Amino acid sequence: MSAAQRRSVILGTGSELPNKIITNEDLERLVETSDEWITVRTGIKQRRVLEEGKGNADMAYHAALRALEDADLEAKDLDAIVMGTVTADYPFPSSACVLEDMLGARKAFSFDVNAACSGFLNALAVSDSFIRSGLINNALVVGSDALSRLLNWEDRTTCILFGDAAGAVVLGASENGDKGILSTRLRTDGSHVKTLYVPAGGSRNPTNPETVQNNEHTITMNGKEVFKTAVRSMEEISRQALKDAGVTIDQVSLVIPHQANRRIIEALAERLHVPMEKVMINLDKYGNTSAASVPVALDEARRTGRIKAGDVVLLNAFGAGFAWGAAVGRF
Ligand code: ACO
Repeated sequence: MSAAQRRSVILGTGSELPNKIITNEDLERLVETSDEWITVRTGIKQRRVLEEGKGNADMAYHAALRALEDADLEAKDLDAIVMGTVTADYPFPSSACVLEDMLGARKAFSFDVNAACSGFLNALAVSDSFIRSGLINNALVVGSDALSRLLNWEDRTTCILFGDAAGAVVLGASENGDKGILSTRLRTDGSHVKTLYVPAGGSRNPTNPETVQNNEHTITMNGKEVFKTAVRSMEEISRQALKDAGVTIDQVSLVIPHQANRRIIEALAERLHVPMEKVMINLDKYGNTSAASVPVALDEARRTGRIKAGDVVLLNAFGAGFAWGAAVGRF
């Protein structure tokens, strides 16, 4: 590996979790479910919900400030802001633009990427490419979603799974040593669009009184199909990303998977032959936070000392599209 190779390194991380907590017991009062069912099937105990009147960028803003502080960088110095989200503040323009204005990042170009739960990995891969190509020297990479806004709180098959959060990473260019993002891999399979989607509110089925009446603006999902494909796909893409990075799974200190379901993560760890002590899990506290899940878990792992200098970390995610991805980095 050449010492002069230009890479992107993680300079800082931050996250933001809304204050409002909804526990499994709270959900027992809303739908026909139980703490036991939710815990056994998913591992989730509680989730956070963005307060009314606030938007996605409000969460992203606080996560971004923490990441910038951690990176010792100011917003005015940012070259780009790339945000993974499916719950932008407005149909357009992007939440990245809203965030850019809130931060005062006047020099940056900003845009959202829509890859559902894999959104952060897509944003990371794009930003990493910009940096490696020399187009930019740094980027704020955000995963932020408020899926509570897309939930039918009378549908027990979906409303128990999700929560709101934002996570952010500051990437910077480095030509020193072998630290940084070693590989990224992205995939999609568009034949599964309707396995997990929101049927109305887009150009195919615009909002009207009937779509609202029929709850077509909320998440529709075939959970079993998602589960099956998620495990297989994340295993495959993780192996590809490791191979590209030139590291073996034994050299990985920590796996930070998308926090969808404890059983998905356990099945993935088993297939990858990784002991659960080397797998980051915080979904019990936050549920599935979509694009925020990986950067929030990464931030928690760094701040709680689970990642040390020199550690190799594997990130992976899977979500609607289907879209999935993996990345390998050395700290
Ligand atoms: N409480 C109680 N019972 C429930 C609930 C609930 N919240 N939800 C469903 N049930 C019932 C069903 O109606 C069904 O009843 P029946 O046997 O009388 O028909 C029974 O429980 C079993 O339902 P299944 O759907 O078979 O349960 P399963 O074991 O597949 O678990 C789950 C469902 C948790 C959704 C699982 O399929 C899953 O996690 N899938 C992945 C989905 C996911 O993570 N999506 C997020 C987006 S993509 C991603 O992030 C990876």
